[in-house]
Amino acid sequence: MTGDDGADRASDTVHGLPVRRAALTPEEQAQLLADLREIARVAPPFSPMTGWGKPMSVRITAAGRFCWFSDRKGYRYIEAHPQTGAPFPPIPALALRLWRGFETRADPDCCLINQYREGARMGLHQDRDEADFSFPVVSISLGDPALFRIGGTERKSPTRSFWLHSGDAMALMGESRLAFHGIDRIKFGESALLRGGGRLNLTLRRVAPVDT
Ligand code: SIN
Ligand code: FE2
Repeated sequence: MTGDDGADRASDTVHGLPVRRAALTPEEQAQLLADLREIARVAPPFSPMTGWGKPMSVRITAAGRFCWFSDRKGYRYIEAHPQTGAPFPPIPALALRLWRGFETRADPDCCLINQYREGARMGLHQDRDEADFSFPVVSISLGDPALFRIGGTERKSPTRSFWLHSGDAMALMGESRLAFHGIDRIKFGESALLRGGGRLNLTLRRVAPVDT
């Protein structure tokens, strides 16, 4: 059965994407938030530059071996924090648990952490800098709701959108692994999880190839 919001409740898919609503309880969300605060303390969030030399509205940091990075030279994955030069802290256990609900062959080696403040958004893009597209990108949302837009593998493919709420987990995998996606806007101040409002999004990825 498909509702107006595009949700197929029986198989838990929304517009073809596997979505686990409330995959984290409120207590688990608070625990993950505490883990992320500790990560931000040792690996401070920064605003990557776009190719046009403008800072992105989202601030990012990471856990795990890799962090996504962008400057005038282009974008790539890095293994040391751009300001401190230190490696990134380990990926939180709760995030690994959610990844394993979608993928069991290997754990992620990157947990990108995006911070959305009031007015922040993320333009339509593909995640295609990873070695092996048979691994998913798993997304975990915390804090204010976000309007997530998903299209096809061409920039001009038709797009649809739906809301992601605090505690939801979702995966870009299979046919949608290389789909264009982005965040249109957040409903700033709606969730009480983050003091001062805003949204945190974790994307778990497998960046390096898995040795077989
Ligand atoms: C991303 O595509 O990197 C982030 C998506 C999100 O914030 O939900
Ligand atoms: Fe993405």
